[in-house]
Formats: sequence, C-alpha cells, structure tokens
Amino acid sequence: MVTCALPYANGPVHIGHLAGVYVPADIYVRYLRMKGEDVLYICGSDEHGVPITIKARQQGCSPQDIVDKYHKMIKDSFTGLGINFDIYSRTSSKVHEANASSFFRRLFDNEKFITKESEQYYDPEAKTFLADRYIVGTCPKCGNPDAYGDQCEKCGSTLSPDELVNPRSTLSGAQPEKRKTTHWYLPLDKYEEWLRQWILEGHKEWRSTVYGQCKSWIDGGLQPRAVSRDLEWGVPVPVEGAEGKVLYVWFDAPIGYISNSQELLPNSWEKWWKSEDTKLVHFIGKDNIVFHCIVFPSMLKAYGDGYILPDNVPANEFLNLEGGKISTSRNWAVWANEYLVDFPGKQDVLRYVLTANAPETKDNDFSWKDFQTRNNSELVAIFGNFVNRAIVLTHKYFGGKVPAAGELLPIDRETLAQVPEIKKSLEANLEGYHFREALKDAMEIARLGNKYISDSEPWKVAKTDMARTATILNVCLQICADLAVAFEPFTPFAAEKLRNMLGVSLYAGTDHRKGEQETVNTYKPGECEALHTVDADAPQAPQSGIVLTWARLGEENLLPEGHEIGAAELLFAKIEDDAIQAQLDRLEKIKAEKEAAAAAEAAKKVVPQKEECTYEDFEKMDIRTATVLAAERVPKTDKLLKLTIDTGIDTRTIVSGIAEHYSPEEMVGKQIVILANLKPRMLRGIESKGMILMAQQGDGKMRFVTPQETVTNGSIVG
Ligand code: MF3
Ligand code: ZN
Repeated sequence: MVTCALPYANGPVHIGHLAGVYVPADIYVRYLRMKGEDVLYICGSDEHGVPITIKARQQGCSPQDIVDKYHKMIKDSFTGLGINFDIYSRTSSKVHEANASSFFRRLFDNEKFITKESEQYYDPEAKTFLADRYIVGTCPKCGNPDAYGDQCEKCGSTLSPDELVNPRSTLSGAQPEKRKTTHWYLPLDKYEEWLRQWILEGHKEWRSTVYGQCKSWIDGGLQPRAVSRDLEWGVPVPVEGAEGKVLYVWFDAPIGYISNSQELLPNSWEKWWKSEDTKLVHFIGKDNIVFHCIVFPSMLKAYGDGYILPDNVPANEFLNLEGGKISTSRNWAVWANEYLVDFPGKQDVLRYVLTANAPETKDNDFSWKDFQTRNNSELVAIFGNFVNRAIVLTHKYFGGKVPAAGELLPIDRETLAQVPEIKKSLEANLEGYHFREALKDAMEIARLGNKYISDSEPWKVAKTDMARTATILNVCLQICADLAVAFEPFTPFAAEKLRNMLGVSLYAGTDHRKGEQETVNTYKPGECEALHTVDADAPQAPQSGIVLTWARLGEENLLPEGHEIGAAELLFAKIEDDAIQAQLDRLEKIKAEKEAAAAAEAAKKVVPQKEECTYEDFEKMDIRTATVLAAERVPKTDKLLKLTIDTGIDTRTIVSGIAEHYSPEEMVGKQIVILANLKPRMLRGIESKGMILMAQQGDGKMRFVTPQETVTNGSIVG
C-alpha cells in the first residue's frame, strides 16, 4: 500500500511537490505492479487547515469554494502527468468526516487523550479564537511589524503568538485578549519508548535524513500534542460541549488515507490496513516526517485494532527553483497545471528531470537551463536518437521486419550481456527508493544501445555485408524492447509510444481504480487506456501477440525474427531556447514585481522619532540657503559629488554622497539648504566644509531640500 501526502487544496501542485512525493511514488508503484505485486495507491486532497480559511477570506469566498477549485485542479494535474492513483478523494468527503470523527471518538472513549486548559488569543470583535496565523504583531527578534503568530518571515524566527509585541488580529485589526480554552491532547510522551524501539531500534535502514529527524524528536523528549482547535472549518470534535472546536488538521489528514481506502474498497479495505502481509510505504516531503513517523503511528497504536505501521517513509528533502525557495504564497514555483499547458505532450520530460534531480539526500535545484539540457542532450540525443536510428534503419534495409541475427560477435554478446547486469542495479535501486540512481541505470541501457549502434555503424556495414547489418539491427531492436520496459516507471508516455512502434504489449499489473473489482492492465499497442494516453494518430505496428513483462527485461530474444514493427516516430523533441526564455522571463517578472512591492513597502517606512533635544541644541546649528555654482563627480567613487557652493558668506567646497541620486548637471544652479558650521573634514583628499540637507525615504531615495521660493543665499533656516 503506497500513500502520497495529501496535498493542501489551497493552491496548485508544483514541481517541489512532484519531485518530493508524487513522481517517486509513481515510479515505485508502476515498478511493483509490473513485477506482479498487488498495490493499493492512495491519495487525495487535504482540505482543512487555517491557510485555506485565510485564502477564502482574502478572496471573499468560502473555504469550500477554495477547496473545490484546487481539488479539481490538482486532480487534473496528476492525471495529466500520468500519476493515476487508485483513488484521489478529499478530506471534506462524507466518508472521511464520519471516519475521522469515529477515530477520535474511540480514542476519547478509551481515555487515550488528556485535556488541558490554556490561554489563547481571542478576537473580541470577530468573536473567535485566533489561530497562530491569524495574529500578527512586531517580531521580538528583528522588529518586523508584520510577523505572524507562528513565524517571522523577515528574520525566519519561529515564534509563538505570546512573543509578539503589540499583537493584532488579522480578522478585525482588534487587539486580541487572552481567554481560557480547553483542548484534547495526545500524550506522545507515553509512546516515546515504544517509538524508540520501533524506529530507532527497528528501522535503522530508513533514510538517514528521516531516521535522524525521528531520533532528534525522540531524544528531545516528546510532549503531549493538541489534536483540536478553536475553528469553524474542519471536522467537528464529536464530544458534547465541544461547540466551535474541530479536529486539528494534522489529526484528521492522515486518517484520510484510511478514509479514502474505505471509500474505494468499502468491503475489503481492512485487508490492506490490518494485515501483516501489507507493506505500507508513505511518500512525503521532509516537513511531514514528524507527523508520519511519530504522530500518526502513535494515533494508530492508541487506536489498536490491528492497524499496521509503515515499513518505510522515504521522505525527500526540498527542491529549489532557480536558486530560490519554492513558495506557494510568493508564487515562486513551476505549477503543474501551467506546465501541462506550456509544454503539451512533454509530461515525461518533467518526470525525467525531476527524477534526475530528485532531492533524495539533500535539497536540490531545478533550473530551466538544466531542464533543457537534460531533454536535448539526454532524452533526445541518447534515448530518442538510438531508438530512431534502429527503427529507421530496420525499415530502410529490412522492410520493417526484425532481421535475423547471425553469429554474434564479442561486441554483440558483451552488449547484450550488460542489460541483465544493469537490470540488477536498477531493481536494487528501485527497491531501495534510490530513484535518481535507478533512472541512471535505465538511461545506461539507452547509452549502451547508442554506443553500440555508433560503434557498429550498420549504415556503413550495409554497403558490404547485409548479414552483419541484420545482426547489428537485431541486437539494437532487442535493446529497444528493453527500453520499452525499463522506462515504463519513469517516462510512461514515451515507453508506450515506443511499444506502439515496436508492436508489442506490456503487462503493467493490476490496479484498483474500479474498486473491489481489480483491473488487469496489459497495455496493447494502440490501446488508448484512458489515463495512459498515446496519440491515437501515432504510427502503430500491426497487432502481435508479444507481451513484454518486467521479468523478461534483459532476455535476448524479446523480438523474434520476422516480427513487423511500425514506422519510426521521434520519442522526444528538442526544446528550443525561446520556450526556455519564456519561462525565465515569467520568473524574472515575478521577481521584479516582488522587488517593486518590497521597495514600495520600504518607501513608506518612517523611522521612529529621535531623542528629545533642547532649543539650545538646535541653535548651535547654522543652517542656511546656498546655491550650487559647479558640480563634478569625485573620480573613482560612485557616490560622491564635489560641489562648489555660494553660501552668501563665501564660496566653498562641499563633498556630498548624492551621486547616485543626482547627476552633476542636475545640481548646478539649484538653491539648496546646508549645515554651514559642520566641522570640515577630508573626503578623498578634498576638504568638505558643510553638509547638504537631504530628505531620505525608507527605501533610500534622496531629494535635496529647497526653499519654496528663491531667497538670498545665506538666509538662515530655523
Ligand atoms: N497537506 C499536508 C502537506 O501538504 C500533507 C498531509 S499528509 C497527511 O504538507 F498524511 F496528513 F495526509
Ligand atoms: Zn523577525
């Protein structure tokens, strides 16, 4: 049973989600199914939680409107990318509400919770308790006046609402007050020893990043965790006297895996969830580790009744985009739905690049240049090019029929013998959740073929030796058949297209999309299996009875002599610079907008009033009007202008740091205001006598101060 983190339905899915969770899970599931394993593949939208209600408020609609919109969008994106869960349901479903509710109720009845009273912020105007994200105030660490109750986005500190200076409610702007409220807590401390045994002793094979996070949580001492919240949006707490309270989103969401299984398999879901024969694997991102390794297992343990625990939790690190952290709220992402529109028919390219750069052991970066390079010099130049040459030449010399292999030379035997070797590594990597390495293995088969055909040069051999040409192309076609199997988990669209060209089917295993009635998938050539689509107009070979399977990958005679293949069609197309530039421009624009917004914010900022001074303090300053007679840049500096000034008393030199705001020409002839009696000082070897008065904005913009009408130079300002 494979689960994928339920994405929040408050935005589309992006490449970070895909690389971290959904693409690796899909590779894994496709592989297991081809091997004949029975896999249940579960996902759905996570439709509760405060960010959804905040988004609804911002957009002036209901939370239900938000989740309806994004649930559909996310679901379509997965389908578009060939990620076909057995069920993609949602935590706002009836089944889930009933299931999460009864789950809570059983823990409550069996006294698995403790209750605690605490003081929480309450908005007296909006008449509601305020979740962390609904409170803003001044950050105690950096002074940012708009820090959230849980975090300051300026300095990155984690905060609690209590730490904010001058907290205010984002709902009404009112100053929140403290009120007492009672919540249910799961006492994780009681499960600490059990978790230590199960994970730290029992699962040393987990990824070191995952194991390490679990260890530091457990070693740090587990605390009771609140499982309810004072909110309106969510599953109501099914206990008398709990009006206005809902289940905490991280309590109900993982139960969603079970609910969705129940919705799909009302009669047989327990066979999966309560049987030691089931191997459960959770695919998640690193920010979900504690919930899937500590909290949810403790919930299941508390529940009892034979629920199984995950066998592995291959959580990924994060993917960055062009060096920046991906963020839904800041729109710094490549969105799956937009990708599918901008790059139609190129689902595999994204799957390929995200796997090749999967953040399995550390954070990784996605860049559009790398995307283009991997497509053009790997998918097109190696995989696609090899297949194309093999098929085109088979048509050219042998009328599109697999030619007979004569006696194999050492190069032929060595080449073919490498495939089973690569397969071993490929399987080990897939089973060990090393998908980047697994992809390299699959690609190694394409490289092998490409090198073999280049070294053997059948187009030259054909001039003198047709029998040898036949052998070479036979070997090439066998490798093509291997590729049509090996790439099915990674690039299923291209793999299917290739099988269509080769005129072979693939046994792809069974799925449960039709519920209790299992579906056996043998992808026949030309069969447009609904979610496994190939262009119906694409060239196809005549039907043959050949069915490839994972087990047969690496066998020597997958395509028998005389088997008829279809016309060659390119598996991958080159991606040109303009398509990449369009994406870079889009990101550049987002960056520029963000910078402009930040600058506009900064421009509005005003520094607090200075310490009090006396009239005598002020009187000491000789401020007067003057006119700029001449101006020039101070050589080798960016900031300094040397100004010659008529002060009414004398003509003098002032060196001023305004060169980034005014050119020398702009200054000449202007009447300005100066501090005349400032102690002279040397700047770059020039004596500066006095200072020009400038108004300076929060964003650094500077303008000189000038009398409202021209007055005599030397007039006192005061
Ligand atoms: N919605 C969460 C996130 O995107 C994941 C929830 S996973 C579940 O981080 F297990 F709780 F469902
Ligand atoms: Zn801060």
